Amino acid sequence: MMFATNGYAMSDSKQPDIPWFEPLLDAEDAEALKQQVLRGFVNEGPANREFEQLLSNHFGVPYARMTPSCTMALALSLMALGVKHGDTVLVPDITFIGTASAVRLAGAEPILVDVDPSTFNLDPQDAARRMRPNTKAIIAVHLNGRSADLSSLRAIAKKHGAALIEDTAEALASRNAEGFLGTLSDAGCFSFAPTKVITSGQGGFILTRRKDVFENVIRLKDHGRLSRSSDLHEVTGFNFKVTDLQAALALSQWKKLGGRIARAREVDAMYIEGLRDIPEITFTPRPMHGGYLMWPDFKTARRDQLVQHLLAQGITPRPFWPALHRQPAYAAPEQEYPGAVEVCTRACWLPCSPAITNEQIQRVISSVRAFFKS
Ligand SMILES: Cc1ncc(COP(=O)(O)O)c(C=O)c1O
Repeated sequence: MMFATNGYAMSDSKQPDIPWFEPLLDAEDAEALKQQVLRGFVNEGPANREFEQLLSNHFGVPYARMTPSCTMALALSLMALGVKHGDTVLVPDITFIGTASAVRLAGAEPILVDVDPSTFNLDPQDAARRMRPNTKAIIAVHLNGRSADLSSLRAIAKKHGAALIEDTAEALASRNAEGFLGTLSDAGCFSFAPTKVITSGQGGFILTRRKDVFENVIRLKDHGRLSRSSDLHEVTGFNFKVTDLQAALALSQWKKLGGRIARAREVDAMYIEGLRDIPEITFTPRPMHGGYLMWPDFKTARRDQLVQHLLAQGITPRPFWPALHRQPAYAAPEQEYPGAVEVCTRACWLPCSPAITNEQIQRVISSVRAFFKS
């Protein structure tokens, strides 16, 4: 029997008792959608602009634009920054594949960079080594709420005249010492996919301090024009608009963000407390300066056996994705990515739906403990 999942399933045959992550929608969200339908406006319009104004105020950045996804936000940012066919873009070897696909969507080619296995983020030394004359941008992924080393990456980008983009898909409202992640480069790209702390079904947005980038994004999203009241198309653009139905849902879900982040911190703390004395588990340092993890993570050499053990108990953990160099679409030599190999073979996320109960967390902890005792 197949079951449908909003998030991630290790198996398509059995509904887990404790899923890895399921989004949480409520009656307030349903009412927001109903009201938007009754308003009769379903194109990109006032609800998009209202949400973008809210984002701009919250993050203290002059320009915000909703996008159909983070993958599209990244592709639009690259295109808006002038990245094109024949260019290359640095991308970490450990990330969701959408980071690299966005580069190809913009017509360029990703260059995979190894990661630091202690932070899961781009290794700046390897990034510097892999820069080429045609490298026009670096995408710094803030993996799971942890800030990438932006000051080093900014210096490398500046030296080569390249742009710096933040993939903030997994770090909505997370911070480092400088401020909100996603506001600290040429463009920050965010995701509202169903496995994120809040969701609009699918969706995302771009933040930028650059008017030129913002205006290019508007043109690219809407058939090459700045204003919909004009039928004059200055440049080639596409249709990457976002419906006001999604914006209405995003506005409603946004109200829950503070509570969700507080709960994510609580859940993470419970897992650490319950598992910290197991010598075979390494908890990677948690973010400081107001950062948070979207999904509790750790590393263990027996990761794959642990995953099988939990699945048999009706608990779905999520092993990290295979490194990009191991993906057929982006294959590259294994020996060049020792940090990424360590992460993709050992790292794992624990169940952490917004609706997960303390009892369920205790069940996961007991099950993990039982595995390491055996
Ligand atoms: C690091 C990272 N980048 C990009 C994406 C792509 O986001 P979206 O699904 O909104 O296109 C994701 C989504 O899961 C992600 O985790």
